[in-house]
Amino acid sequence: MANIRHPIVDVHTHVYLPRYAAELRARTSAPRILNWTNGVKTEERLLILDGEPSGGRPIGPQYWDRDEKLEFMRRHGINISFVSSANPWLDFLPADRAQTLAHELNNNLEEYCATSPPAEGFSGLKTLYGFGLLPLVPDVEVSTIIQTIEHLKSLPHIRGIIMGTKGIGKGLDDNTLDPVWDAIQAARLVVFIHPHYGVDSTAFGENDNGHVLPLALGFPFETTIAVTRLILSGVLDRFPDLRLLLAHSGGALPQLSSRLASCIQHDPIVANRLKHDARYYLGQLYFDAVAYGSEELTFVSQTISRASTFKNGGGTVDPAVGSTRLLFGTDHPFFPPLEASQKWPSVESNLAAIRSMAGVDSKPEHQANILGLNALRLFDLHDQVYT
Ligand code: URA
Ligand code: ZN
Repeated sequence: MANIRHPIVDVHTHVYLPRYAAELRARTSAPRILNWTNGVKTEERLLILDGEPSGGRPIGPQYWDRDEKLEFMRRHGINISFVSSANPWLDFLPADRAQTLAHELNNNLEEYCATSPPAEGFSGLKTLYGFGLLPLVPDVEVSTIIQTIEHLKSLPHIRGIIMGTKGIGKGLDDNTLDPVWDAIQAARLVVFIHPHYGVDSTAFGENDNGHVLPLALGFPFETTIAVTRLILSGVLDRFPDLRLLLAHSGGALPQLSSRLASCIQHDPIVANRLKHDARYYLGQLYFDAVAYGSEELTFVSQTISRASTFKNGGGTVDPAVGSTRLLFGTDHPFFPPLEASQKWPSVESNLAAIRSMAGVDSKPEHQANILGLNALRLFDLHDQVYT
């Protein structure tokens, strides 16, 4: 083990491809990119939600220029990135436009990755791979979504799909989506579930707290609710080989999973609906390690490790299991430093959190898994390097 080089792989890193940025520039309501003048200075700003705090945020080439992504990776020692479109994807478009744009953007992302430099020291691998998009909007034909999955399957550098929490309008627990889950499972594409809408912003009061409340709380609560609904709808029972990667370490789901299990056990409508105790399903999911703290990551890892004990028929805890389902991520280009600095504190704190997790701090093989090997395995690239 000591002499084998292990990669650092980023599974949570975003892009607005030039074609997508052009779509946002052409719009007059959120989501949009607009010119913003502040005294003498004019800059482009990104407004992704109506009523977004603080007039949105500055946007520039770090969101679309591939060289900036590669330079960011070099600076932080990241060998390989799985790049995904940033929110809100195609959610706001009519079905026909969403379908066309999904096709074009998926081809563009394939090219972005296929023409990236080789990952030095990792034979045959590129520095960039991608998560594609589906036209997940109301009124789309399910057959159109399936066609897009077939297209994605034919693009060798696209290894997954990023999606929000709305499904085709009714959420991820909509039974209409069953053929979609089936096709994704068969295609072995990884689904990255990522928030965008947060929760009702009236819950956040009237003080100007910038983006803190929607990002720190709204995003993870949105993911928590969406994935809980998914579990309750039985999707994970019907599609046990579906590989779902949850943004921001699954939000509050690990923390609330025993409460969820208890509520299910005490509810006459739901009590006998699922094959397993709710906590079992955490062991079926993958979690990014974008949590910024070692105690939180240790906790997530432990809730994953104990999942098998809730299998109907029983199981034993293997404390190492959790570290096989956590994957390093950065959320680049979001969370840049407020003051110029070579390395981004948002990235450094996620790396430090992984390295000092209890039970991982003294085990280089567990660190290597979370930092990169889990990603290579999840995306079926591991055996290409380590045969
Ligand atoms: N991170 C994201 O992925 N999207 C945002 O809008 C903000 C932070
Ligand atoms: Zn993100």
